[in-house]
Amino acid sequence: MLRKSEPASRYDNVWRASEPYMRARKNDVNDVHIPISFAFARKLLEIYSDADEDVVSLAIILHDIGLRSIDMAEFMEKGFGPNMMQSDVRVLHENEGVRLSRKVLETTGWPESVIVAVAEIIDGHDTRPQARSLNDRLVRDADKLWRFTVTGVSVVCDWFKMNPHQYTARLEQEVAVLETEAAR
Ligand SMILES: [Fe+2]
Ligand SMILES: [Fe+2]
Repeated sequence: MLRKSEPASRYDNVWRASEPYMRARKNDVNDVHIPISFAFARKLLEIYSDADEDVVSLAIILHDIGLRSIDMAEFMEKGFGPNMMQSDVRVLHENEGVRLSRKVLETTGWPESVIVAVAEIIDGHDTRPQARSLNDRLVRDADKLWRFTVTGVSVVCDWFKMNPHQYTARLEQEVAVLETEAAR
């Protein structure tokens, strides 16, 4: 059954409040990644009506806000190097994400229960092996699905210094890592 969704404009104040953090770095991937992943999260929410619309929407907007506190050259080197998903810079962007998301959500008047639920998803979103909840599963999928778009392939090819043929071969293996049937 389809849920009666809130309009996406419900989160406009959060986009605005998070913008200074998102734009703190040059070539900020969040400008590209977050809007595309947000659109995927909204699609998944239409399908998985048991998920919490506010928590999922806010968590996907804010999950990488902690990248702001990290030197981008260091993140590109260590966050994408050997053992990249367990690297210290990955953990740091998650911890900073928990801290900054609280700041943004308090400023924009969201209740404590939502702030805590969003933080639970952001905490360990790259480094935790398991999802904690349905909300978490949708955010994890939306976080990955942007890479399957033409824009995502272009951006990530540049990060990994791969051509689209090489990268899409790698992406094919990542389908198995997606949490939900709808995302796959
Ligand atoms: Fe992340
Ligand atoms: Fe992300």
